[in-house]
Amino acid sequence: MSPRAPEILVFDSGIGGLSIARCLHRQVPAARLTHLADNAGFPYGNQAEETVIERTVGLVTEQLRQRPVDVIVLACNTASTVALPALRAATDIPVVGVVPAIKPAAALSGNRRIGLLATPATVRRPYLEGLIGEFAGDCRIVRVGHPDLVTWIEEWARGRPMPEPALSVALQPFREAAVDTMVLGCTHYPLITGVLQRLLPDVRFWVDSGEAIARRTLHLLEVAGFDREEMQRYPGSGHRCLFSGPVMDDIDHFLDALGFVRE
Ligand code: DGL
Repeated sequence: MSPRAPEILVFDSGIGGLSIARCLHRQVPAARLTHLADNAGFPYGNQAEETVIERTVGLVTEQLRQRPVDVIVLACNTASTVALPALRAATDIPVVGVVPAIKPAAALSGNRRIGLLATPATVRRPYLEGLIGEFAGDCRIVRVGHPDLVTWIEEWARGRPMPEPALSVALQPFREAAVDTMVLGCTHYPLITGVLQRLLPDVRFWVDSGEAIARRTLHLLEVAGFDREEMQRYPGSGHRCLFSGPVMDDIDHFLDALGFVRE
């Protein structure tokens, strides 16, 4: 076994990064995960780009001073589409970003009609246009930038009901366009894939970035000198969830179910 377990820092505006952390835990079981949620700045979809960049770089670099980190996962589409270059410039540690999984969706779609559910900021970003132009030029991409879904998911994780009738109305453009593939372009959304599948039963393929991000992270850890077999053999423990602002203990049950402890 390497002298110490790999350390991965997962960053999001809220608890969405836990959907990525879940995949990291499966693919790199020996790693110790620290999930940092900027709940004081949540939601990023409503913030100016400069604010998202400043908060992301400030909070991540502050965390790097606290303990060793081998790979940083910027587990937020809204932040990754603007803050990746600044974060990479601020540290030598490898940074994995999360952007909407347009490329795998285009590889899967049969009828070339793809739905993208994301935050209003992500659906507006030029970065997204670039992805579509590069990988899905022959597809019709139906975009819904939902202003409230991240907040609903944060509340649902604290035991509040999901407003499904309102969510169902927001998904109507996907039904009307008969998309066969859905991209979940916000890391909060895979936490409620079951609800979304129930509301859009005709969609054949559901795509998010979690498994691809975990594969990329595993590769970067290998490059950093960790042994692949050891990383996959030993079950890690001590996953921590940190918050930038005050938080109530009603989230603990949700964190516990994913193997995280609030600090
Ligand atoms: N999980 C973030 C994302 O992937 C949520 C963004 C927000 O805070 O608006 O986009």
